[in-house]
Amino acid sequence: MAAEDLEEVLATESEGHTRPWPKKIFLEELARSYARLLVVRVEAPPVGIAAYCNYWLVAGEAQLLNIVTGLKFRRQGHALLLLNHIFEELRRKECVSISLEVRKSNIGAISLYTSLGFELAGVRAAYYADNKEDAMVMIAAL
Ligand SMILES: CC(C)(COP(=O)(O)OP(=O)(O)OC[C@H]1O[C@@H](n2cnc3c(N)ncnc32)[C@H](O)[C@@H]1OP(=O)(O)O)[C@@H](O)C(=O)NCCC(=O)NCCS
Repeated sequence: MAAEDLEEVLATESEGHTRPWPKKIFLEELARSYARLLVVRVEAPPVGIAAYCNYWLVAGEAQLLNIVTGLKFRRQGHALLLLNHIFEELRRKECVSISLEVRKSNIGAISLYTSLGFELAGVRAAYYADNKEDAMVMIAAL
């Protein structure tokens, strides 16, 4: 992801989250040395950024902060492609695990993560401020 992608990314972000990240946060993430932001760009119609993700790698441990697929691109394997790519990058860097937080009600994302080997590691009660929903903490060994 580059700053030029942000117009498209922000449109997709608002399709993915009830409280979408503003441009400022993406710019901060792009400037962080330990953050990595990736996009999947589709070249055949409908062209454009289909999906993106953001992860951190700090002290040998990775954390997935964000992953969204645009509405018209869902269930076409784009998130799976991104996550498999991240796994490969992290293994090359000898990272041993990746963790994430996901809303308890987000059955689709939980199903995706479980299919890749993520397991429930804990629950953060009432973690999300908007509706006091619990966060499931999931970890995958690499
Ligand atoms: C979760 C999300 C990123 C998945 O993106 P996607 O590109 O549609 O996912 P993929 O096509 O790669 O899905 C791969 C597999 O994950 C599972 N999966 C993905 N979405 C699913 C859903 N809504 N319901 C059930 N299973 C789902 C399926 O097993 C799917 O394989 P299949 O389509 O062959 O059955 C997308 O729904 C999204 O952007 N949601 C809003 C943002 C979000 O919740 N992000 C995660 C925050 S933690």
